[in-house]
Amino acid sequence: MAFTPQFLDELRARVGVADVVGRRVRLTRKGREHLGLCPFHKEKTPSFTVNDEKGFYHCFGCGEHGSAIDFVMKTEGLSFPETVERLAAEAGMEVPVDTPEERERARRQQTLYDVMEAAAAFYARTLRMPEGKAALDYLRGRGLDDQIISRFGLGFAPDVRGALKGALARAGTDEDQLVAAGLMKRPDDGRDPFDYFRRRIMFPITDKRGRTIAFGGRIMGDGEPKYLNSPDTPLFNKGRVLYGVAQAAPSAYKSGEIVVAEGYMDVIALNRAGFEAAVAPLGTALTEDQIVLLWRLAPEPVVCFDGDAAGARAAARAAERVLPLLKPGFSLRFAILPEGEDPDSLIEGAGRDALARTLAAAMPLSDALWRLETGGRSIETPEERAALDDRLKKHALRIADATVRGHFLSAFKDRLWRELRGAGRGQPAKTATGVQAGAHVDSLLLAQRVLIAIVINHLGLFDHFEEDLGSVAYSDGPLDALRQDLISVINEGDGLDSHRVREALRERGHAATLRGLFGDPLISRHRFIGAAAADQVRATWNENYALLCGTAVRAQIEAGKAVGAEGYSDEDWQRQRALIEASLDKPESEEPEALPPRRRKP
Ligand code: UTP
Ligand code: MN
Repeated sequence: MAFTPQFLDELRARVGVADVVGRRVRLTRKGREHLGLCPFHKEKTPSFTVNDEKGFYHCFGCGEHGSAIDFVMKTEGLSFPETVERLAAEAGMEVPVDTPEERERARRQQTLYDVMEAAAAFYARTLRMPEGKAALDYLRGRGLDDQIISRFGLGFAPDVRGALKGALARAGTDEDQLVAAGLMKRPDDGRDPFDYFRRRIMFPITDKRGRTIAFGGRIMGDGEPKYLNSPDTPLFNKGRVLYGVAQAAPSAYKSGEIVVAEGYMDVIALNRAGFEAAVAPLGTALTEDQIVLLWRLAPEPVVCFDGDAAGARAAARAAERVLPLLKPGFSLRFAILPEGEDPDSLIEGAGRDALARTLAAAMPLSDALWRLETGGRSIETPEERAALDDRLKKHALRIADATVRGHFLSAFKDRLWRELRGAGRGQPAKTATGVQAGAHVDSLLLAQRVLIAIVINHLGLFDHFEEDLGSVAYSDGPLDALRQDLISVINEGDGLDSHRVREALRERGHAATLRGLFGDPLISRHRFIGAAAADQVRATWNENYALLCGTAVRAQIEAGKAVGAEGYSDEDWQRQRALIEASLDKPESEEPEALPPRRRKP
């Protein structure tokens, strides 16, 4: 049978040699390679290596060498086409030919799906039986109602060695099928196969279409491991699947957003709290395949891992892994949970709004890398700066896409430069958990206030600012109304001064908003309130305007999000603070400028 070269290339790229070999040979990781005892000759010390990056295995003892396809052919005695079909099925790839063998494969796979479906039904039934009562009570105790239990098809695997086999035998499922489906395990020593999952709460893992392809099982009571996943089978490869994807997809398509949590219960808690677009990898770091899968659902998935060292490490690995894959418009963002919390516990404790704020404050990838490399410390010496510069550049240079790479390089450069200027100016110390949601929102509000305060206090420069002010998007409702009336008040009146403008605005119902604005200490102490040189005022304007434009663009992309939920980058916030603090150095004057008679624009 002929396979196209493109298909074979794609297959080799998708199939990990270590995964394939690892099913027969116990491998241990050694740097970039895996090491084990050679299956082709007898040996006591390992000389058999597998290199996933290069896509081959090699034995230094006997010289055996080849690809994943070669390995399966040699160890299973399959033909080349049989091997290709088997590996393609495991990789979830369609074999682009129609032959009797292909049809047989499709038929066999269909029956494995049937087995999984029958097993899921058995587990779900058992949860409602006396032996499942403790598990059901446990789930109820964690706040899950019947609706969510059935939405995720949760079940219970009883603590009986042959329970599943007995139950499914009646439906005509035989032991071989259960072993092939990963639901029973055949011990190497020849004893009878036994149920793979026992005394566990069962979480069906589905493909995007909702077909059960595997299970995760959480132990009830004590026992190791806490969570157990199905082994890899022709239907399931854990690095290519995301838990919750079928439930998440409709909502993700609609909102253009998706949250990636660490665990099963996080996904379910997110669903309960109304964040249906939530998925989780299956106990491993986010893989490249999973990132690609996520991008089919939403362009900028928000990674929201546990607020502990392990979660931070997993997030850092995801940040590094995504770099080579980046392309314009596609990235990841990173939400930082409070120390010791996971999404589940945060929703349970602080509530869903706390989680919504955390998600809204998710930082872009460039900020996450910066944070990773600086550890939140400020950079004081030239040596530190050079080392940081070097590390950041290394990250950026791993980006394959030239456009994205260029933007990362310049963003890092800008930020290093700003860091230098900011050093010693007493910038606010950042908390260990980074910039919080409140800071982001405040910063956005502040920029909106700054523009209005500048116009009111520098009416002489209004011609210069009118177009910007007319076009910029305000997320704060009352300030937006104030902005629009401000423009019309100035355009309608001649010879107004600041005092009269404020009066007119108060008459139009903006008294409270104005009080809030000028009562903000960062506004009232600011020198652009008084007499500042026009170029300084313009510089302040430009910075804040640019900030809001950036936000507006983002708001457009993510139209439909809750107001005020725009992600505000760490970087934006720092720039804003530096600007305001710089401007506080100079003395201020309370003299408002008079507005000259209105000129026509050229
Ligand atoms: P956690 O230990 O954080 O569990 O593991 P959790 O999500 O908070 O679960 P609960 O709330 O105690 O029930 C996070 C994820 O890591 C994987 C699972 O996917 C789990 O959901 N994991 C954890 C394993 O694969 N095996 C384990 O033994 C433990
Ligand atoms: Mn938990």
